[in-house]
Amino acid sequence: MSVLRSVKGMHDVLPGDMARWHFVEQTYRDTVERYGYEEIRTPILEPLELFVRGIGEATDIVEKEMYAFEDKGGDRLALRPEGTASTIRAYVQHNLQALRPYHKLYYLGPMFRRERPAKGRFRQFYQAGAELVGVEEPTADAEIVEMAVRFVERLGLARVSVHLSSLGDAGTRPIFRAALRDHFAGVAGDLCEDCNRRLETNPLRILDCKVEACRRHADKAPLVLDYLSDQARSHFEETRRMLDRAEVAYVVDPTMVRGLDYYTRTIFEIKGAADTLGAQATIVGGGRYNDLVAGLGGVPTPAIGFSFGIERVLMLLDDALLPQPRPLVFVVGIGDGGSGRAQVVARELRAASFRVEASYATASLRSQLKRADKYGAAVAVIAGQDEAGRQAVTVREMKNGEQREVPVAELAAALEDFR
Ligand code: HAM
Repeated sequence: MSVLRSVKGMHDVLPGDMARWHFVEQTYRDTVERYGYEEIRTPILEPLELFVRGIGEATDIVEKEMYAFEDKGGDRLALRPEGTASTIRAYVQHNLQALRPYHKLYYLGPMFRRERPAKGRFRQFYQAGAELVGVEEPTADAEIVEMAVRFVERLGLARVSVHLSSLGDAGTRPIFRAALRDHFAGVAGDLCEDCNRRLETNPLRILDCKVEACRRHADKAPLVLDYLSDQARSHFEETRRMLDRAEVAYVVDPTMVRGLDYYTRTIFEIKGAADTLGAQATIVGGGRYNDLVAGLGGVPTPAIGFSFGIERVLMLLDDALLPQPRPLVFVVGIGDGGSGRAQVVARELRAASFRVEASYATASLRSQLKRADKYGAAVAVIAGQDEAGRQAVTVREMKNGEQREVPVAELAAALEDFR
């Protein structure tokens, strides 16, 4: 029979990789919980319309990358490509704003985008994110950026930089869009087919195009920071002052464009060095989206958030920082009834909260110790026939082969260093 493989761009995470994943996830949870965030879990499947309305019809995500389908009942559904729209849908649906003036929500889970697979770019990837819903002050913008930076610092990621900009208010967008349209209309003949379409639907997206000719013209395009309203400008400046006070280093990057249409005012990204991450250098992306709650049918509520791709963070993670794995105790049974004795000892050790493997069958000491080694045991407990008569077992340290006999009643205490 032929061997079945996972879907292109979708990967298994094998047990050997899990320590790295858990470290990132635990550090993330611990960081955001220090800031008062609470977890929210939303379905992986959502109505297609949520993302069309939330992310924007003329974005690459919605136009090209979504796994959208009609189910057997005729409902139009999509696998979520990101977490913000779903989080806000849940916020509105459950009327959370009635409970508290603001909410701090975090999430973690698989997202799906049918992009061309590349280094750091997958069709199923894991995102963790945080959304602060209900605060419009720049204090929230600065805190969100700082929180993302503190998280990245705790992971010890080297050579990362924070890029900051503002997209202004709802009023900025039509004016900036018109300026972009003017700029690009004159060179439309040079632009790719997609960008010619974007000229009509969403000229902001031209700034994001990877085609060389389009990039050349994008480099000379008007800058959004020159189009900010007075309010948006002072919000941006206040955010910057607060980040300076918090000693968060950043560069103002007026050419930054985010791939989703919901952003207003502050946007930011944390990037790694291109030599380690290649073209997919953005680890964290986020920003303010003051119109999304209303756009999804809620009462107008300002919000800001970010998310990061766990796989991208893992590409930068230094394994030397990983916590030591929990030691493994391997119980081997020797002689008649050996495996039965091993199971009894294992049961007692597990009840005393050790991590324990025990042999399933009686075999020679040599082959069982070899197995203990293969499973990475730190210590072996040998439950032999002779020792059993003395109510004892032999404890063997795997790293140096030192052995000593220990009364069964004292075993847990003798293994204290391996708990
Ligand atoms: P995004 O920039 O589309 O923003 O994605 C955020 C992060 O998810 C990226 O920086 C990257 O690390 C990771 N990511 C995205 N696509 C892929 C992929 N195909 N393969 C691997 N990793 C990927 C958002 O999704 C917004 N929801 C962020 C946000 C939250 N804004 C406000 N709140």
